[in-house]
Amino acid sequence: MMRALAVMGLLLAAPAMAADGDLAAGPGQDVVAANCGACHTTDYIKMNSRFLAPETWKAEVTKMRVAFGAPIDDAVAAEITQYLIAQYGAKP
Ligand code: HEC
Repeated sequence: MMRALAVMGLLLAAPAMAADGDLAAGPGQDVVAANCGACHTTDYIKMNSRFLAPETWKAEVTKMRVAFGAPIDDAVAAEITQYLIAQYGAKP
């Protein structure tokens, strides 16, 4: 009985640990979560956030599209870039 309860606890805890829907709240958050979590987790954004200047974020989004083939059109890319700069751009 005790053992069964412990296993259930693990099952309940697992989804919370796997979730990466914890991007900073702001305009464009949903778009970034939908487009930038397809190939890798959005942790990639947070891991780089302290280092990337606005221009570098722009280049990063372009690289995901051109080099890695992310299917993101210009309008969506602009929205994503704005979000990244606002939420995760290096502060001068
Ligand atoms: C088509 C697949 C794909 C999509 C979609 C994608 N990426 Fe990537 N991303 C990659 C690959 C491949 C790498 C590099 C390989 C690795 O390190 O795993 C990478 C690496 C990164 C890195 C680490 C730094 C670097 O340049 O290697 C960041 C930051 C990043 N991506 C941000 C984004 C953002 C922001 C978006 C949404 C615009 C996005 N990615 C969408 C494939 C993708």
